[in-house]
Amino acid sequence: MDPKKLFIRTYGCQMNVYDSERMAEAMGGQGYVETDTPDDADMILLNTCHIREKAAEKVYSELGRLKDLKAANPDLKIGVAGCVAQAEGEEIMKRQPMVDLVVGPQTYHRLPDMVKSVSEGTKVVDTDFPLEDKFEVLKNRPKARRAPTAFLTVQEGCDKFCAFCVVPYTRGAEVSRPAERILREARELVERGVREITLLGQNVNAYHGEGTNGATWSLARLIWALNDIDGLERIRFTTSHPNDMSDDLIAAHGECEKLMPYLHLPVQSGSDRILKRMNRSHTAEDYLRLIKRIRAARPDILISGDFIVGFPEETDADFEDTMSLIRDVGYGQAFSFKYSTRPGTPAAERPLVDDAVASERLQRLQSLINEQARSVMEDMVGREIGVLFEKKGRMEGQMVGKSDYLHAVHVTAEGIAAGDLRRVRITGAGPNSLAGALV
Ligand code: SAH
Ligand code: SF4
Ligand code: F3S
Repeated sequence: MDPKKLFIRTYGCQMNVYDSERMAEAMGGQGYVETDTPDDADMILLNTCHIREKAAEKVYSELGRLKDLKAANPDLKIGVAGCVAQAEGEEIMKRQPMVDLVVGPQTYHRLPDMVKSVSEGTKVVDTDFPLEDKFEVLKNRPKARRAPTAFLTVQEGCDKFCAFCVVPYTRGAEVSRPAERILREARELVERGVREITLLGQNVNAYHGEGTNGATWSLARLIWALNDIDGLERIRFTTSHPNDMSDDLIAAHGECEKLMPYLHLPVQSGSDRILKRMNRSHTAEDYLRLIKRIRAARPDILISGDFIVGFPEETDADFEDTMSLIRDVGYGQAFSFKYSTRPGTPAAERPLVDDAVASERLQRLQSLINEQARSVMEDMVGREIGVLFEKKGRMEGQMVGKSDYLHAVHVTAEGIAAGDLRRVRITGAGPNSLAGALV
């Protein structure tokens, strides 16, 4: 019998990317192989994101588009996974009756059983927060050769309850995986060709998992253990919260050779009044002091961030405080969003900022960030840095990789293979990437 074809479309954060990979592997055990188009699929899974209204609405428009496929092939099964599945559950089937399966982020280890029910014609909705560890149920990962970089989820969920955010509701309470399991998975990835691992968690630096010696390990302790794995060349982690930036983690940025000089540390706003209303439990000054300490440990570190503009009741003065914080920090990169009301969150009840005002603020903030990112890229020119090559570029003989600072770098030279980590002198900065030559 021909294998069945599975198409997964992934929205949202890196954690969803990792989850999609694990779901595809789980379905592999049921005789499914992945395909890169929905057109000939036997099963389509949308792994969804609920973080902003637009992200969530995308799911329904995508489901609308899939209607024709379902009409042409009544055997086609359609599933909705991820954070919209968790947030809306059965509502999804009410709005789109052609959906066969709704599965939240914490129960997809049950997918094989769910798919069996679905193929027998029974619809399934599973949005539990079960006690068992889905990754342990799915522990036998396929042995295939892999790309040089991989994600590895070490912590999930969030207990911080920022007033605007759905994550504590869609992903549940904060849970850390035991270190032994993470190290085992990391070693397996390295055996399959992975050279760089990005540790993932909604609050990854709050990691406090059971260590191999029975004690509780911090993220820094886990990073030091990963640092000992031969063949693993680079370690990254994302996303961090300012309040969980512990001393040992800051020190690791100065001392741990494989830990890359890049830190995504969202602050959301530079106004203390707004930070308070966001329930961030730190001030702008706390954040700036923290950045100073991190830079004292690792002067060349590239700082990245997230910002929300137009949070309820944000005034011009509040916004100017954010702009001033950005000028103080000097970001290498940042993501910024217009505030989006999320049902069920505390901020959803509050008066909105005029949309045109919010849009204008977003534009100003983004042009400041772009300016900073540009100048950080230009400062790379002339420097010699590490590049991990990932794939062929568009030009003949060209390879593309990522620098230590996570910039894309193009190099034209013979004898570079995907997975090679080489020293490169940066020769130019384009709009989205750097150019360089092997040293
Ligand atoms: N755990 C991470 C963030 C996860 S969500 C942290 O604490 O930083 C990723 C980003 O989406 C957030 O940093 C925030 O900037 C943005 N975001 C979250 N909820 C939002 C909302 N309701 N409206 C607009 N942006 C939002
Ligand atoms: Fe959301 Fe705040 Fe938790 Fe980040 S720390 S996931 S923004 S609630
Ligand atoms: Fe989106 Fe869920 Fe990630 S809401 S950002 S996919 S944790």
